[in-house]
Order: sequence, then C-alpha cells, then structure tokens
Amino acid sequence: MGYVTVTAVFQQLDDETLAGLLDPLPVLGCQIEDAGTGVLVTVYLDERHRASLDAVGDVLAAAGGEGIEAGSLEDRDWLAGYRAGTRPFPVGRLWWLEPHPDTPAPVPPGRIRLAIEPRSAFGSGSHESTQVLLLALEEGRLDDLCVLDAGTGSGILALAANAQGAKPVVGFDIDPDALFVAAHTVKAQDWQARILLFAGTLDALDAHFDLILCNMLWSQMEPLIQGLAEHLSAPGTLLLSGLLEADDVAATHACEGAGLTVTGRRRLGEWLALEAQRG
Ligand SMILES: C[S@@+](CC[C@H](N)C(=O)[O-])C[C@H]1O[C@@H](n2cnc3c(N)ncnc32)[C@H](O)[C@@H]1O
Repeated sequence: MGYVTVTAVFQQLDDETLAGLLDPLPVLGCQIEDAGTGVLVTVYLDERHRASLDAVGDVLAAAGGEGIEAGSLEDRDWLAGYRAGTRPFPVGRLWWLEPHPDTPAPVPPGRIRLAIEPRSAFGSGSHESTQVLLLALEEGRLDDLCVLDAGTGSGILALAANAQGAKPVVGFDIDPDALFVAAHTVKAQDWQARILLFAGTLDALDAHFDLILCNMLWSQMEPLIQGLAEHLSAPGTLLLSGLLEADDVAATHACEGAGLTVTGRRRLGEWLALEAQRG
C-alpha cells in the first residue's frame, strides 16, 4: 500500500484547526513540524485517494498555506512521526485513549485505558464518528452480551465493548491490513482482551448478536443494513455511526425497511449516530 502527501507552510497553525479543516476529506493523518519561520504541515492520504490531493491542497491554500506541494511515500511506517507527537486523551467520562502502549501514562481515576497506537487502520479514537459510539458504550455494562463490530478498523469499538464486559465480541473488516493492526491492538490492552477477528465480509457470519456496532460512511453502510439487521438477535440493538445529518432520512428508512425501529440519535460535531432495535 502506498501513500500520497500534501505539504504546505503556514505562519502558524494548531492541531485542532488543521483537523477541522481536513475533517470532510479522506485523510489518514497529518503532522505539524516547526520550520523555523513557520510550521510545515504534511497531510497523508492513502494512494487510493490520490484524486483528493487537489481538494486537500485547495483547503490548505484557502486557510493561508503557502508552497503547496504534492508528493508520495514509499511503503514504510510513515505514521511513526505522527505517533511520536500524539498524547493520551480522554473521551467522555469513562475512556482514556493511550497512543503509546509501551510507555503508558497513568490512567486518571475512574477511567478505562484503551491502548490504541495510531497505525494504518481507522480508529485511533480521535475521530468524532468513533467517539460518538464510545460515548454510547460508556452508558452501562454489557456483561456477557454478544457483540459484532462491523468494519472494526483498529478494533477500538470491539475493545471498548469487551472492556464493558461483552463476550464474545467479533470484529471484521474488508481491509486485511486493518486486521493486522486490530490483532496487534487487542494484545496491547491492560486486560486480557478477547476479540474474534477476521478479514472478510458480513456474509461469512452465521450468528446472531445482541449488539452490532458499525461506523462507516453511509455509502459503505447502506448495502449492509439488511444483512446487519438479519444478524441481530431479538431483542437486539444496532448502533450506526459515520452518518451525516443528510443521511438521516435514508438511514432511518433503510433500518425500518429491514424490520428495525429507530429509537435514538446522538450527534457529535457533524456526525450522527442512530440507534435501532429489533424486537
Ligand atoms: C470509519 S472506519 C471505522 C473503524 C472503527 N470501527 C472506528 O469506529 O473507529 C470504517 C471501517 O470499515 C471498513 N469497511 C468498509 N466497508 C466495509 C464492508 N463492506 N465490510 C467490512 N468492513 C468495511 C473499512 O475498511 C474501515 O476500516
């Protein structure tokens, strides 16, 4: 897998502003380095998203970036620099996201550490579409509930469910690289996390789940709704994230068409999560 980059120089720019600028774009990560008279910003995209290079360049230029250049990277651990600069952070009232499992910071009292090294799979915990489901998962124990995480990425949501007592927990992803990251992440936890992981599609599963988690863009999720509903126990709960406000009507309609009732909505930033129930 290869990567493409866009670099730009700014007088001044902070992480939060940069994340806000890039939020709607298919960006894997970004880095801000001191460049003497200003800061050098590097934005990383998967080679598959090469077509978005111009859009990233335009966003950086509109925000005052100069000397904008596109480039590419050989396949190496290009996130190492980004990872080194990340710090642990809280999500909600329960979670503590630790990007450095080998040199962890103390966990504030009352929080659960999720050790997630930012690697080449979505799900470091910094994205609001992930966070909105972490907030749902902190609401109560899930002891012995059978949970499916569709599109598990780094495995973060599967791990959060497991930390809350869910078992068995199954996570799958169509991206085999994500599964290597998830398998590595499972071993990095403070507790003996148990997640059954596989690379593949929903069709491979012949089981029912009390809770199904799915954080994907609506265009990816839409074809899965019927199948996800069919894998729900009765009673059972489907939590969908990665939706935008504009997807609400279609997503609600699709859930109802699959025999579910939409029972709740959560919003974080521009991201919407739907809760739907069977039975
Ligand atoms: C936005 S990421 C979510 C990762 C993680 N669950 C989280 O919430 O941070 C979406 C993931 O879904 C995966 N994906 C997309 N379409 C899929 C499909 N049809 N079946 C399984 N996984 C899929 C992608 O490869 C990606 O890892």
